[in-house]
Amino acid sequence: MVKKIKTDHYKCVYDKPGRQILLLFGTEYGFSEEIAKKLFDRICLLESKNGQLPWQPRVVNAKQYECIDFSREHVLFVVISTAGDGIPPTEARHFSSWLLAYSGDLSHIKYSVLALGDSNYPHFCRTGITVDRRLSELHSQQIVPCHKVDMEDWDVINRWTEQIITCLDALTVEPCLDYLVIRSCDNDSTPLRNKPFLSRLKIKRLLTSDKVNHEDQKETIHCEFDLTGSEITWTAGDALGIYPENNPPEVDHLLKALNATGDEMVDVPTWAYHNKPDNQVSLKHSLMKYFDLKTIRPELMLLLQREADGTSCQNKLDSLLKEGLSSKKNTFLHEYLYEREVADILEEFCEVSSHLSPLDILNQMKGLQPRYYSISSSPLIDKDTCCVTVAVVRYITLGKPRTGVTTTYLQDRLTINQSCPVFISENPEFRLPANTDIPMIMIGPGTGIAPFMAFISERYFKKATGINRLYFGCRHQEGDFLYREELEHWAHKGFVQLCVAFSRDQPEKVYVQHLIRKDADLLWEMINDQNAHIYVCGDAKHMAKDVHKELVAILMNKGNMTEIEAEKFLTELESKGCYQKDVWV
Ligand code: 2AM
Repeated sequence: MVKKIKTDHYKCVYDKPGRQILLLFGTEYGFSEEIAKKLFDRICLLESKNGQLPWQPRVVNAKQYECIDFSREHVLFVVISTAGDGIPPTEARHFSSWLLAYSGDLSHIKYSVLALGDSNYPHFCRTGITVDRRLSELHSQQIVPCHKVDMEDWDVINRWTEQIITCLDALTVEPCLDYLVIRSCDNDSTPLRNKPFLSRLKIKRLLTSDKVNHEDQKETIHCEFDLTGSEITWTAGDALGIYPENNPPEVDHLLKALNATGDEMVDVPTWAYHNKPDNQVSLKHSLMKYFDLKTIRPELMLLLQREADGTSCQNKLDSLLKEGLSSKKNTFLHEYLYEREVADILEEFCEVSSHLSPLDILNQMKGLQPRYYSISSSPLIDKDTCCVTVAVVRYITLGKPRTGVTTTYLQDRLTINQSCPVFISENPEFRLPANTDIPMIMIGPGTGIAPFMAFISERYFKKATGINRLYFGCRHQEGDFLYREELEHWAHKGFVQLCVAFSRDQPEKVYVQHLIRKDADLLWEMINDQNAHIYVCGDAKHMAKDVHKELVAILMNKGNMTEIEAEKFLTELESKGCYQKDVWV
């Protein structure tokens, strides 16, 4: 029998007298929530000294900020991420705008901010930095400096947490005897991240060809989800969040490595974000739905290292961990972990792991998070059908075939008429121009085409008169030319100006930015004279940067600007909503 995993004990209200601490999180994927909850646990362990009342933490989602009376809070710790192109996570947008506009006095608040982000994107940690700055402008007292976390850098997270714990020890805070009860915020029925809608898969269709025999053949699918009966509404440009299930053979592999049968009963972990059952479920069920089997938390490695004393694993674990846990500083560890899954690690260090209980290991594992896909259909055409475009991920590491969790869940395991939990992730920064006459320049290679399918079909439906110029890129004309029929149909009707870069149909690579370069005169005219809106969707790391450089070059060559002027011009376009990006790493 597996020992019980803790049930959810995280309070969002102060229900006892004590020294109150508000832990506010703003999250897109649930990571900030997890950190806030871990801090909650640490604070609960603190002992009160000199007869002081105990600390009373509560954890509140920033989306519920309206339920908080900040004039009555004393200590505030904010854990907040930055999404996409430097914007607050969907659920924290209102809080963020409210805080920026707030002009009251918050000098009674002692605070600290943990800013999460990904340095591959521009505006690293911008939301957390802004919240930190704003609190300081409102005269709150920063008690621990803002820490910036690059992806899952636990070194920084742990450092921030420990500084807070040390700081609390010396902090004088008036206890609150008539504790606050906030309005219950849990009553909205719109499907959000932790209240998804069980949606039926209506249609699944392969967009790439399985007839041609390219060695580098891609596998991309189009899925249509039924939203009938949900209260979901969405706008072209939004994304669909999907909660996957793991692959049963991979679950069995892990059970074996855990020396468990799978029938052991466990409480669903506290950080299971959706449809959390009240009762215990089998370990197998829990691994299927709630745990990430692919990501190895450095914390699991630390646990193994702590237990490895005197075993043959000790040297290897010591050398892997000697540079610390930061992905920037210890690239060796991160490359090592990247190639492996949890079961591989447990097998590799079985001399140590076999002495640990499944519970010890589960506690160091990451929760299975939803994945987001840009929606490729317009609600104007069918509000009950939501389509996504998904590139199926399969690869090999250490000679073993590996699979992307959600992409293979959709392609291999979820069959037609079966349902899975979905929700909408709004993307207010990626929207059609309100005016249908405005020309659009859309740049989206690969699955970056998805939101443009929604945009174009919506403009077609509205009989928009503005030009729709689309730059699409794929490897081969015969193979991965996604939505070719639809696109050629629109092009044939003169509704879309279709420009396609086939990167591998000739010896030298041809990418969307090469076509853009050739069209410099036309694009300059569209941007400068016709106020065209520019949209970029797809890979952030290379494509979006290369396309941006090409746009800068056009402005310099055709608009006689210096590089600085060209950058400024694009920044202004961006702030006016005329240059919008939906990019991911
Ligand atoms: P490749 O695979 O031949 O490198 C969709 O993935 C398309 O985007 C593919 O044709 C891919 O080409 C191309 N691509 C890869 N890197 C790119 C980049 N930096 N800019 C634009 N397109 C890119």
